[in-house]
Amino acid sequence: MASGSIWTLALLWIINLTEARTQDIHVTCLYTEDCILPCLFKPVGGEVVRWYSPSNSLLLSSDQNGPQDQNYVNKVAMFQNQVALGNGSLLLQRCQPQDRGRYRCHVTGQQEVPDTTVVVRVEAPMQSLALETTRLSGYEEVLCLTRNVYPAPQLSWSTQPPMAKDAMKYTLHKRETKGLYTLESKLRKLRGVASLTYVCTVSAAYGAQTWRASLTETDMSSTEGGDLTLPCVAPADLLPNFTLTWSFLPTDQSSVILTYNSSRHWVAEAWGGHVQLDTLAVKSGNGSLRLRNLYTKQHTGIYTCSFTAPKHTHVAHIRLNVTSIRSEKVQTEESNSWWIAAVVVAVLAVAMAAIVGIVKLKDDCSQSGKTMEEATMMHDVTSTLPSKQHLSSHHTRIQ
Ligand SMILES: *[C@@H]1O[C@H](CO)[C@@H](O)[C@H](O)[C@H]1NC(C)=O
Ligand SMILES: *[C@@H]1O[C@H](CO)[C@@H](O)[C@H](O)[C@H]1NC(C)=O
Ligand SMILES: *[C@@H]1O[C@H](CO)[C@@H](O)[C@H](O)[C@H]1NC(C)=O
Ligand SMILES: *[C@@H]1O[C@H](CO)[C@@H](O)[C@H](O)[C@H]1NC(C)=O
Ligand SMILES: *[C@@H]1O[C@H](CO)[C@@H](O)[C@H](O)[C@H]1NC(C)=O
Repeated sequence: MASGSIWTLALLWIINLTEARTQDIHVTCLYTEDCILPCLFKPVGGEVVRWYSPSNSLLLSSDQNGPQDQNYVNKVAMFQNQVALGNGSLLLQRCQPQDRGRYRCHVTGQQEVPDTTVVVRVEAPMQSLALETTRLSGYEEVLCLTRNVYPAPQLSWSTQPPMAKDAMKYTLHKRETKGLYTLESKLRKLRGVASLTYVCTVSAAYGAQTWRASLTETDMSSTEGGDLTLPCVAPADLLPNFTLTWSFLPTDQSSVILTYNSSRHWVAEAWGGHVQLDTLAVKSGNGSLRLRNLYTKQHTGIYTCSFTAPKHTHVAHIRLNVTSIRSEKVQTEESNSWWIAAVVVAVLAVAMAAIVGIVKLKDDCSQSGKTMEEATMMHDVTSTLPSKQHLSSHHTRIQ
């Protein structure tokens, strides 16, 4: 027992000793870029520097030309003129995920130099994050997508206002191409919740980067000739460096209405008289757009507001339906004709009931009086219906 503990202590001491002698240096290399693995020492003269690969095979020696391992030809190099100056750093070219691992630099010469261990990790940082709506699977979904990242990042969903985690149903697909990951997640849209903002957050495995994209959808309607404010408010953490863009999608080609940022405020000529942005409010994140003098054909469609900042975007889609006063009239007439049909059917039904009532009256005197009375009352109600409004007021009275 006691001797066991002593052995453990001794072992720990040895581990500590070796760790102290060869301190790990951590280097993060960017995908496809060149990277320097440092190995520095005090030069006395005549030192030879040797680098060992993560699998502990000799990669390169400063007293030889080029690597011995064929896998590393054109991949690694040393700065020959620097070695005499105490710089035995290794150049690792066009880094790939498979280059990661623990490299060792061993210096031999007149004096003893501790080994240098360099732990290399390779990173392909996120370049973009897309968030869009889709219904390819038959469901209304929100799709969050990021491509060509290494290592695979973490993806999560949330909503604003917050919803229970188990209310959110989503799929997550991770694909690997040439060592890099593509992450695609689809979240089923929640029904019956008005103006919900969907947020997709993706965090790099090394914790240095977080990207966020949010999306909200709103339906609005207005009558022609009216004024209207299309709402769009950026999340507070997206400020202050952003570009705001409003665009309009009448058919399949989008047209930019305006762009706004700290250095530029531009409005498309065609929209000049129709839109207004409160530039003071937009600085604090309220990018709502005032639309004036709306006309049916021109202004019905999908308006998209997007706030873009480094690693952060917020998009609002607003489906606007501008109805003309004329088309509303047509609708009322249409509904009138529907009601006329309904009234005719009702009258026929009452007539049938009345006939049945009369037949019954002949059969049974005590029951018939009541039935007759009811039938007449209903007849009164239905036959004096000139419009929808009358019907509803009668209904209220009956109930
Ligand atoms: C070692 O040499 C390389 C190549 O010239 C250089 O990039 C690196 O900065 C040098 N390191 C030091 C600590 O001087
Ligand atoms: C915003 O941009 C300015 C100038 O480009 C920069 O100095 C500042 O650090 C940026 N702020 C943030 C929070 O990114
Ligand atoms: C402002 O917006 C314009 C046009 O979209 C863009 O080219 C420019 O880079 C933006 N400037 C800043 C500081 O974001
Ligand atoms: C944004 O501004 C519009 C007017 O431009 C206003 O009606 C709306 O209430 C504002 N929204 C917020 C969240 O401040
Ligand atoms: C716009 O509203 C009218 C009347 O409410 C409706 O008939 C029409 O289908 C709507 N159009 C769209 C594109 O939603």
